[in-house]
Amino acid sequence: MDKDILLQIKELKDKKNAVILAHYYQNPEIQDFADFVGDSLALAQQALKTKADIIVLAGVYFMAETAKILNPGKKVLLPDMNAGCSLADSCPADAFAEFVAAHPAHTVISYVNTTAAVKAHTDIVCTSSNAVQIVESLPKDEKIIFAPDRNLGNYIKSLTHRDMLVWDGACHVHEEFSLEKILALKKQYPEAKILAHPECPKPVLIVADHIGSTAVLLHFSKMDTASTYIVATESGILHQMQKASPDKTFIPAPPKDSTCACNDCRFMKLVTPEKIRDCLLYETNEIILDETLCMQAEKPIRRMMNISEQENLLP
Ligand code: 13P
Ligand code: SF4
Repeated sequence: MDKDILLQIKELKDKKNAVILAHYYQNPEIQDFADFVGDSLALAQQALKTKADIIVLAGVYFMAETAKILNPGKKVLLPDMNAGCSLADSCPADAFAEFVAAHPAHTVISYVNTTAAVKAHTDIVCTSSNAVQIVESLPKDEKIIFAPDRNLGNYIKSLTHRDMLVWDGACHVHEEFSLEKILALKKQYPEAKILAHPECPKPVLIVADHIGSTAVLLHFSKMDTASTYIVATESGILHQMQKASPDKTFIPAPPKDSTCACNDCRFMKLVTPEKIRDCLLYETNEIILDETLCMQAEKPIRRMMNISEQENLLP
């Protein structure tokens, strides 16, 4: 990476008391200069803790929005405003509000990969790191709506045996992994363990040796004794896995279409060092939210944070 840009970013950060929070799916160069790298739960926790005046969220829109909801008084910048999320897009707020209204007496749990408008119709937010614990924090006979990821929702349902209505949404990256190609790789590397994010479809989860959020998969890869891993989630996480375990081999799980880089999230990968520098320099791409919406969306996020804190879920 251009050393000048790195220097400029550092100077701007110091001058403006800014912090860069990056998701594990960011390009390795960004992960390496960020002040903090983590999964979506850890990013929200960091956003809550930071003393910085400006938060640059090197990630996607819902992550920056969550940081803003938790910090209405701070400036939150997203380096590329087109960095959306296909999973969040699969749950439009109007349709979701109708669905919730049609199923009264249900507790609504929404994944953090949703818009603030969907969170405003939610009782408790969750991430893939704490979804099981959030569901299990409710009484056993509670009726639950879970949105928007059908794969994560059905996986959590199978673990908790709860009465759950699952919204039919999905992420374009995780939907694209090819079971056949994963099994072919497993034949080639019989010693390899398969790691999968719970946003993967059920057939991929069935063959996985370990299922979890990005933070959970990273932790597992550090502690486990295998030498090789096939990783079924966005390719950015391989950077941290390889850094933590330089002697192990990490193979990205192949997508169905070998001509596309489908295991790169096209939204996450919109962020570049240049865009981080520019948004810091000009203080552009600020997340601005309606105050009422912000307050409505904050409640279910805080409920999640309280449950997560109590149960000390991070590995
Ligand atoms: P994590 O919660 O594991 O960071 O995942 C976020 C995400 O966008 C998965 O696609
Ligand atoms: Fe959204 Fe999927 Fe990208 Fe995660 S990988 S940010 S769920 S589109």
